[in-house]
Amino acid sequence: MSKKLKVAGIAGSLGSKAISKKFLKEVKKSFGEDVELTEILYADIPVYNADIEYPTPASVKRVRDELKEYDAIVIAMPEYNLSIPGSLKNLLDWLSRPEQPGQPKPVLDYPILVFSFSAGISGGMVPQELLRSLLSYLGASVMPQPRASFTGAYNLLDKDGNLVLDDTSKEFLDQSAKAFVAFAQ
Ligand SMILES: Cc1cc2nc3c(=O)[nH]c(=O)nc-3n(C[C@H](O)[C@H](O)[C@H](O)COP(=O)(O)O)c2cc1C
Repeated sequence: MSKKLKVAGIAGSLGSKAISKKFLKEVKKSFGEDVELTEILYADIPVYNADIEYPTPASVKRVRDELKEYDAIVIAMPEYNLSIPGSLKNLLDWLSRPEQPGQPKPVLDYPILVFSFSAGISGGMVPQELLRSLLSYLGASVMPQPRASFTGAYNLLDKDGNLVLDDTSKEFLDQSAKAFVAFAQ
């Protein structure tokens, strides 16, 4: 029997009620029992600034250490101004930096599932391509297909703020999750 895949979930936005966090919960359902998906929290990491890089801020060290426990990463990202949310870009900037001065730059050596969503009709495909390019540059292996995206994000919320995917969206997410398990192993 193959071992259970451990996947770190990264929400592209930080608010406690962020739709990106709700999407991570949905993809966890799509993965089912064979995958352990845990969200990595990073709201406490500072904006990257060379003046505070060393000694490494405790919050950054914690995120780096947590990520080392995982086999793969899934990122659920909203579109912010046709681009990647600054919080997510900032996290990736930190992860691109050496842990100690003078060390070589680390490689973000993970299989990664990326999907995007937006309030409007774009589905966040422009920032998704930017994110894919950035992750590849950092050394990650980004699953090329399917390129899942979801439009009209607020229409997917019920009156209590729960994310409720229609059958087509659910099927899309299920297919992505299934393909990723094969891709990551
Ligand atoms: C700073 C900011 C910029 C946004 N830019 C866009 C945009 O360019 N296109 C769009 O469709 N929605 C845009 N939105 C709406 C978000 O995509 C939408 O609110 C999304 O559901 C937010 O996800 P979240 O709850 O995970 O933060 C923007 C929202 C914010 C806060």
